[in-house]
Amino acid sequence: MNNKVYIETYGCQMNLADSELVMGILKRKGYEITKELDSANVILLNTCSVRENAEEKIFHRLDHLKSIKRGKPSTVIGILGCMAERLRKNLIEEKKIVDVVVGPDEYRRLPEYLDMAFGGEKGIGVKLSRTETYEDIEPYREEGISAWIAVMRGCDKFCSFCVVPFTRGRERSRSLHSIVEEIKKLSDRGFKEVTLLGQNVNSYRDDGHDFADLLAAAARVDKNMRIRFTTSHPQDLSDKLLYTIAEHDNICNYIHLPVQSGSNRILELMNRSYTIEHYLNLIEKARKIIPGLSLSTDIIAGFPTETEEDHQMTLNVMKEIRYDGAFMFKYSPREGTKAYNMVDDVPEEIKLRRLNEIIELQQEISFEINQQLINKEEIILVEGLSKKSDQFYSGRTDTNKVVIIPRYDSIKIGDYVKVKITRVTSATLFGEVV
Ligand code: SAH
Ligand code: SF4
Ligand code: F3S
Repeated sequence: MNNKVYIETYGCQMNLADSELVMGILKRKGYEITKELDSANVILLNTCSVRENAEEKIFHRLDHLKSIKRGKPSTVIGILGCMAERLRKNLIEEKKIVDVVVGPDEYRRLPEYLDMAFGGEKGIGVKLSRTETYEDIEPYREEGISAWIAVMRGCDKFCSFCVVPFTRGRERSRSLHSIVEEIKKLSDRGFKEVTLLGQNVNSYRDDGHDFADLLAAAARVDKNMRIRFTTSHPQDLSDKLLYTIAEHDNICNYIHLPVQSGSNRILELMNRSYTIEHYLNLIEKARKIIPGLSLSTDIIAGFPTETEEDHQMTLNVMKEIRYDGAFMFKYSPREGTKAYNMVDDVPEEIKLRRLNEIIELQQEISFEINQQLINKEEIILVEGLSKKSDQFYSGRTDTNKVVIIPRYDSIKIGDYVKVKITRVTSATLFGEVV
């Protein structure tokens, strides 16, 4: 009987891409991929450490998996991803049901670690690498419209709050050539959208090529294919990159540019290496070069020493920039980071209040921006059925806004469709086919 592996993915898009890589590696070794937990003899959780609640979720999940292991003791349970890297053998010592712990740079050897586990040993692989990019490994992707490609791994920025440089190691890039070849294959298979991923894509380097070169090369593969990318760091988002986005119709007019805070004092404590003035100039320039640019951000509420005044500065920056969307978080101290040594002195209820103010403001702004789209026409890429009803399709605009339209037989998933927006919420647009 073949081994059957089931994998659950938590955290960022990088982890989603890594899970496809892991499935690719295991498939080559004869594993079958299953979507049913009960039929698997290998259960893998690809985990995230970015905030404490991300890790708590995994611990709860492990408690649940205990009963499965009790019913079928030969089941191998593995932890992959950032928690594997951060907690290492502690995971096995504390959670007896864990058999295998493999960090982000050791997936090539996952089959060996699983073999050890089948033999009754524990398998641990958590070495980080300065060179591993997995560029020769074909990820396992089901048929679809949208694909992720990790174009670089790791992060050298060391923002003081962030665990990623410790769980993902140093920055390294895949070759431009290998990425372009992968996009060609995706295009041949009928994919319509590719998102290029990196913790800090602006640092992409390959033999004299920078990220703008990569984007341009990606865009040229298939003019009918949308190219997206994330995440950009405000310190080194170049003019060349902005012009490249503007020049190519199929590079989406959307940039995720995390600001984190509106206060220069906090930005410095965060080791973000830019000032708010630099950031605002950058946005102004980007909007000039790319008309209709859509922007989103990440914001952290309640970083150590954050005062009401600092918090107001964050709200003011949000009002000034008017982001289309934002991911907003409460500061969560992470062991091993620089900020962990600062006193986490903003009381929980104040953090929560500030976070809620940030969320409410963003919802208001998103709603106002979306309202201006009513009666306007947009081209959307139909990505699938609406989550709420199979009588509706869900698609996205170039600017990354979700649009729900009625389902017609003449429209297929993967089509570009012209729609008129009829109704909006802060998170979703509703439209009719024109
Ligand atoms: N490289 C990307 C993604 C990093 S993680 C980037 O720089 O944007 C995604 C977001 O999680 C970060 O932008 C930050 O807003 C948030 N985050 C990271 N560490 C955090 C922490 N310790 N507490 C709260 N939010 C955090
Ligand atoms: Fe973390 Fe900063 Fe790197 Fe983003 S740029 S992954 S927030 S250290
Ligand atoms: Fe989480 Fe690791 Fe991504 S910490 S956000 S899964 S890089």
